[in-house]
Amino acid sequence: MAYETINVDVQDHVCLIKLNRPEAMNALNKELIGELCDALEEADASDKVRCIVLTGSEKAFAAGADIKEMSEMSFTEVFSTNLFADANDRISAIRKPVIAAVAGYALGGGCELAMLCDFIIAAETAKFGQPEINLGVVAGIGGTQRLTRFVGKSKSMDMNLTGRFMNAEEAERAGLVSRVVPAKKLIEEATAAAQKIAEKSLLTAMAVKEAVNRSYELPLSEGILFERRVFHSMFATEDQKEGMAAFLEKREAQFRDK
Ligand code: HXC
Repeated sequence: MAYETINVDVQDHVCLIKLNRPEAMNALNKELIGELCDALEEADASDKVRCIVLTGSEKAFAAGADIKEMSEMSFTEVFSTNLFADANDRISAIRKPVIAAVAGYALGGGCELAMLCDFIIAAETAKFGQPEINLGVVAGIGGTQRLTRFVGKSKSMDMNLTGRFMNAEEAERAGLVSRVVPAKKLIEEATAAAQKIAEKSLLTAMAVKEAVNRSYELPLSEGILFERRVFHSMFATEDQKEGMAAFLEKREAQFRDK
């Protein structure tokens, strides 16, 4: 499919989606959000894709929801259209692993979009923030909820109340990002991580994603039970037989997603 506000490239089972509104620091307007959701769903459904990388530009992953587009909206409009609910739900429903590769600004909806991905690899230049308070609003797609679960109450309150930005080093220390890499190597490192995932059984990778995500929804005992049952169910797959046989035979596993 041809898109106006994003670029999509599939190579070696990795789908790289690049946000592309340079004139507005990749601000998330309706068109971009719609195209992004379509592209993610297309990648999720494609046999050619086993892992997805979402990135922006060197300057900005995304500087938030498009303020120009939102500024004149009324309560009735945002409430009745349930603004951003659709994006939250569609992105959360993607079953293949999605890595956010963040350089530059990831602010407001941009930080929230990165947190909707499965993990974040940050360039040294990355800056994260929830500055919505400066606009007279609160975060709208997880900035008070996911960020709090990732970095704890104190830092989340600090970010959401002061609107200050967190650099990559602080974000890694706080547990918001999984690793920090040199800016020039961001795409290479994120793609390498995606390729490593793409070599696994897709069934197993999707089960891992589901199980980790349940940890945000369930009490510990229920989460452990969910995990154990998923673990048990993997013994019905050919990939479990292949993975364990390959280990015992000291060879590489050939997974078939079955
Ligand atoms: C619309 C934006 C934008 C945004 C930047 N631009 N952010 N347009 N919406 N969120 C535009 C600017 O208007 C400007 O356009 C161009 O991008 C370059 O931005 P500058 O401000 O000139 O660049 P710079 O001085 O380098 O500052 C970069 C910046 C700053 C720190 C990222 O632009 C900024 O603070 N942006 C807003 C960040 C923010 O408040 N995000 C939260 C949005 S609310 P022109 O035409 O003037 O050149 C939100 C709610 C989430 O996300 C709800 C759920 C999704």
